[in-house]
Amino acid sequence: MDFSKIEKDTLEQINSIKNLDELEKIRLSYLGKKGLISQEMKNLVNLEIDEKKELGKKLNTLKNLIQNKIESKRIEIQNIDLNKKMLDEKLDLTLPPRNYSNGKIHPISQTINSVINIFSGMGFSVADGPDIETDFHNFTALNIPPNHPAREMQDTFYITNEKNKEKLVLRTHTSPVQIRTMMNKEPPIKIIVPGRTYRCDSDSTHSPMFHQCEGLLIDKDSNMAHLKGCLIDFLKNFFELDELKFRFRPSYFPFTEPSAEMDIAYRKEKNTFKFGEGEDWLEILGCGMVNPIVLENCGIDSKNYKGFAFGLGIERIAMLKYGIADLRSFFETDLRWIKHYGFNPLNLTSKSGL
Ligand code: DAH
Repeated sequence: MDFSKIEKDTLEQINSIKNLDELEKIRLSYLGKKGLISQEMKNLVNLEIDEKKELGKKLNTLKNLIQNKIESKRIEIQNIDLNKKMLDEKLDLTLPPRNYSNGKIHPISQTINSVINIFSGMGFSVADGPDIETDFHNFTALNIPPNHPAREMQDTFYITNEKNKEKLVLRTHTSPVQIRTMMNKEPPIKIIVPGRTYRCDSDSTHSPMFHQCEGLLIDKDSNMAHLKGCLIDFLKNFFELDELKFRFRPSYFPFTEPSAEMDIAYRKEKNTFKFGEGEDWLEILGCGMVNPIVLENCGIDSKNYKGFAFGLGIERIAMLKYGIADLRSFFETDLRWIKHYGFNPLNLTSKSGL
């Protein structure tokens, strides 16, 4: 075996290698289990002791030499690869940063979230129901039978189910979810129902689509004082005020007896609202003790159970709190408007605005 030739050839071969795969192949062909050096090592057993010693030593030296050469070649190739990669991925730090924009939370979403937060704190849970309702849930079960004058109180969008000709409505209030809940659940009941509602109406305090939050509490001994306490607590929390100028007015709803409406004082200054003071009143909710007829319509024994309910106008309280003078502006999808009145999500600092 010509050691110096093998040594020379191997080193030349390794020198000319350009990538790690080839290097591995060479390593296996010399140092792998079936590689040249390993085979020669195996053959040593057949030799005389002196020869074995001498050849063994030479083989070991050659093996170490090849191993070292392969290792330094591996480092060399890895360094070349890394440098190339760094050159390819060069960051240009002089480029201006990308102008990213944060979305904003719509004041209606913000208002609904805080209404939910406050009522959850009082033990109410959130329920919901369909926007397209049956006449039964939206009117009849709420003690508004066909031809009842109360139907005129709400300018309803009627639709007909083409398949079975059933008369349907876009719900005019969130109250039908009271019916759905009471028909499906045993008292005690304590829910709020934030959601969209629809009426054929449009001016600075009405829009054909708007939001309400219904509230319903059914138990054995609630009364009007509980209802008032609950609503006053809610409003002080919502408006973050200890003193708030409000009034309860006697009213009429077929589904409550007695019924009331609640107004908040406000003053209009130029194009904004100042709430909780001033001589004008904005109606924000209807409420009352649930009419026993409604309880019976839902299969609840009105001798054993009673409760209170309310329907709160989300846009109305948002207008007051955030000083928005025209209810229609909530839905005009004007980016400048939402940039001004919208809210930043938590944990996001607005870098460039919208
Ligand atoms: N549904 C009524 C409306 O839209 C508001 C309302 C009044 C809801 C009294 C109630 C209630 O639950 O008890 O005008």
